[in-house]
Amino acid sequence: MISLRHVSTSFPAARGKEPIHAVDDVSLEIPRGSIQGIIGFSGAGKSTLLRNINLLERPTSGEVHVGGVELTALDDEALRRARHQIGMIFQGFNLVNNLTVAQNVELSLKFAGEKDRRVRRRRAAEALEIVDITDKAKVYPAQLSGGQKQRVAIARALATRPEVLLCDEPTSALDPFTTATVLQYLADVNRELGITVVIVTHEMEVIKALADHVAVMESGRVVEQFPARELQREGFAPHTSIGRYLVSDGISVDRDGGARTQAPTPSGDQGRAAESAEPPAPQDPPRGPRRLAASELLAAVPFEGGRR
Ligand SMILES: Nc1ncnc2c1ncn2[C@@H]1O[C@H](COP(=O)(O)OP(=O)(O)O)[C@@H](O)[C@H]1O
Ligand SMILES: [Mg+2]
Repeated sequence: MISLRHVSTSFPAARGKEPIHAVDDVSLEIPRGSIQGIIGFSGAGKSTLLRNINLLERPTSGEVHVGGVELTALDDEALRRARHQIGMIFQGFNLVNNLTVAQNVELSLKFAGEKDRRVRRRRAAEALEIVDITDKAKVYPAQLSGGQKQRVAIARALATRPEVLLCDEPTSALDPFTTATVLQYLADVNRELGITVVIVTHEMEVIKALADHVAVMESGRVVEQFPARELQREGFAPHTSIGRYLVSDGISVDRDGGARTQAPTPSGDQGRAAESAEPPAPQDPPRGPRRLAASELLAAVPFEGGRR
């Protein structure tokens, strides 16, 4: 569905500095209907690579193919049309504050060239229905919670009936409960509408919950790829140290002045369960208690809105 072939993106140097190679010779195949996770630390080049897929950021070199069409070979008008099959959502939601929810969604249809107002209305209503937020159609973004805003952003992205949904840190501004809700909607959109999803994140929890395939990025390169189900396998250890770090749970802080010789032992049943289920690889940082999966969170906690 999506094929990136030797894609590189450089930004010109600031005065007296080297140019920035934000994306450096990345080749990636993303099958139709799959969910591709791209994980890495801040500055790894994830957002630039994602923006390369719809040419929001045109690569300096390499080819981008989506749905059998080489986007990097299209003229502006053809590219504008081809982009309608690619929706995008962002960490900051990017809703227009002085438009209502319904108007925000209709706007994307306007941009897509849909001239019939009634068609725009109907398609916007359909899209809001998909993320169960029809009741907020007439309110303004300021009156919504973060999770509701992201659901509206998903509706806006879906209104043009895209085949691909690009997600740039879609849950990074949300608390864990709201994150679980939004991830569930993305999973549903993938399964029910067959939309190919590419999700960029720095949170392995998000990848674990949602992705079929994982690509690990560092310094503009995809340094490692593996099927996401590997993350469930006991003893799975990524090849790269960044991969191993990202797979490990949580952060540990040294509070005894560098005297730590042994991993702190997690206390309580949760900690023991986590230890026996997932022995840490030798180079992993120490593990804390296991975090909850999205489904467990959803089962455990009532939340705003939604159908679950
Ligand atoms: N428009 C731009 N101009 C100059 N440098 C940029 C631009 N966009 C991103 N970069 C640089 O490219 C690198 C990768 O950035 P980005 O793709 O945003 O990484 P990530 O999303 O993984 O945090 C960073 O060093 C960033 O500062
Ligand atoms: Mg980013």
